[in-house]
Order: sequence, then C-alpha cells, then structure tokens
Amino acid sequence: MQPVLEIFPTPNALVDYAARLFAQMAEAAPKRFSVALSGGSTPRALYERLTAPDLAKRIPWRKVHLFWGDERCVPPEHPDSNYGLAASTLLARIRLPVENIHRIRGELPAAEAARLYEAELRAFFGEIPAFDLVFLGMGEDGHTASLFPGSPALAESVRWAIEVEHTAPPPPLISRVTLTFGVLNAARRVIFLVSGASKAEMFAQVWRGADFPAAHIRPGKGEVLWLVDQAAAARL
Ligand code: 6PG
Repeated sequence: MQPVLEIFPTPNALVDYAARLFAQMAEAAPKRFSVALSGGSTPRALYERLTAPDLAKRIPWRKVHLFWGDERCVPPEHPDSNYGLAASTLLARIRLPVENIHRIRGELPAAEAARLYEAELRAFFGEIPAFDLVFLGMGEDGHTASLFPGSPALAESVRWAIEVEHTAPPPPLISRVTLTFGVLNAARRVIFLVSGASKAEMFAQVWRGADFPAAHIRPGKGEVLWLVDQAAAARL
C-alpha cells in the first residue's frame, strides 16, 4: 500500500486531525485498541489535544492499551523520558486502567529493559505484534523511533525490542530501547507526525524513498499516513 500524505497549514491543524483519527479508531475498535506512542517533543501537542473535553469523553479509554515505540534509558520522571512526557500530559488527565499502560522500563539497563518489554509484547500480542496504531516521528537525520542511520538495530530481524547504544547526535546521547522494523511494519496503521522547517529537507528525501530508516516503514498489509505541516513539506 502506498504511503498517504496529508499536509496541514499549521502544527495545531495537524495535531487536531491526528487526535480525531485516534478517537475514531478507538471508538471503532471491537475490543482492545493497541497503540504505540512515539517519543520526542512533537507528541506533546497530540497528548494535550486528546485530553481536551470534546475528545477525552468520546474515547473509550478502557479499551486503549498504550505502548511506546521507543524509550530513552532514564527513569520515568527524567525530562528525557518518552513515558514521562505522556504521563504528565496525557495519563495524568485521563482514566486509563494501570494494566493498560505498557511502558519500557527505562530505569533498567537497556538490554534488560528490552528483554522485559519484548516479553510484555509477546504476552499481549502472541505470535504477531500487530499494533492497531503506531505513532512515529522523524528526526532531521531520518531516524524514526530509535532506529538511527547506520545502527546495527536496522538489521535486527528476530527480536521485537532491542537495546541501542546512542553515542552520536542527535541528542540525547542516551542508551535506548526501540521496537524493530519487524514490529513497526506489522502495524495495521502507522501515523507519522512531522512538523517544522527543520524537518523539510529530510522529509523531502524520505518521501522520495531515500535510504533512511524512516523510509523503511512500509507495513506489508498496513497503511502509512504521513501527517506533515506546511513548514516540513516546504521542500517537496
Ligand atoms: C525519540 C523519538 C524519535 C522522535 C524523533 C522526532 O525517542 O527521540 O522516538 O524518533 O520521534 O526524533 O522528535 P521530535 O518530535 O522531538 O522532533
């Protein structure tokens, strides 16, 4: 299935569309609605939009199971924690059962956190880790999740979650745990959120299929939807 591109005049319009799509998918989910959240700073606005009264009361949170596409190996309360961002801007404002939160244990050594996370994924999904929805961001270097250009993690074809020693820019230069391509490409729907002029050059290259990790997100049966604001789409 070819990736779909939607371009929005502003970051707020992009986030509003993404939040409404999340709500529609959650309402339509017959039972559990499994979502992998992305990291970085872009999701903050999405989380805040999801907690606005018009959507928060619509979304059947008891069906929603939240996972993360990647995590920095820091404690949950650390400012670099992807879980920590969601905890303060989303989880603190919705009524999500604690058993529906499947965070990566960033406070542990990366390899142990990856092993435990993979065990939790297998307990939840069984044989195929087919998320209903995966949110992803894209770095200026073309990475997505914590799959960085040149990383050995790009070649991982067996493990579902893997530790990454991240010692070169972009910051933070912290060990991470990331889902691997096999899991990301098993998703029913992947939504990229890309905002800002700093992403424009890389997004244009990735959209044209240049060999960067973000361009290798191609679910076999699923859909990839790129939600991009005008600033990030300026070099197309
Ligand atoms: C991470 C993210 C990473 C992020 C991109 C975009 O943990 O760093 O998972 O893949 O999505 O770097 O980050 P921004 O949203 O901050 O631009």
